[in-house]
Amino acid sequence: MSGKKKAKKAQARVAPKLGDGEAALVFCVDNKCAPREVSRAVVDEARTYVSEQTAAGRTLPVRVEVFGCLGVCKKGPIAALVPKDGKVKVKKKVDGAKARKLVERLVTKLADAGQQSGLPPVAA
Ligand code: FES
Repeated sequence: MSGKKKAKKAQARVAPKLGDGEAALVFCVDNKCAPREVSRAVVDEARTYVSEQTAAGRTLPVRVEVFGCLGVCKKGPIAALVPKDGKVKVKKKVDGAKARKLVERLVTKLADAGQQSGLPPVAA
């Protein structure tokens, strides 16, 4: 399956949960792509990063969400970068460091597009 097909599949799965036009970093916590505890640890790392930045006085307009299978199912942990009005990008083999970078990438995308998620940042 191509990257575009995987992204479309992930977008179709996450869109109903997120609602229209909400930006988020979404992680699969099903256990086919990676052990669930590994994926959960990556989610915790992303949420901790958002909390650390918030505590340091930054406001990151990023939601970190967990989801069941995103339809990729290989080379996890899998994350989906969901810009407010943009196309979903699927990222494979996400570890803690990559999760932090993905949070920053989403913040940059939102800033570049002049968008806000409209939601408060997620606390750990
Ligand atoms: S089990 Fe993680 S993407 Fe399907």
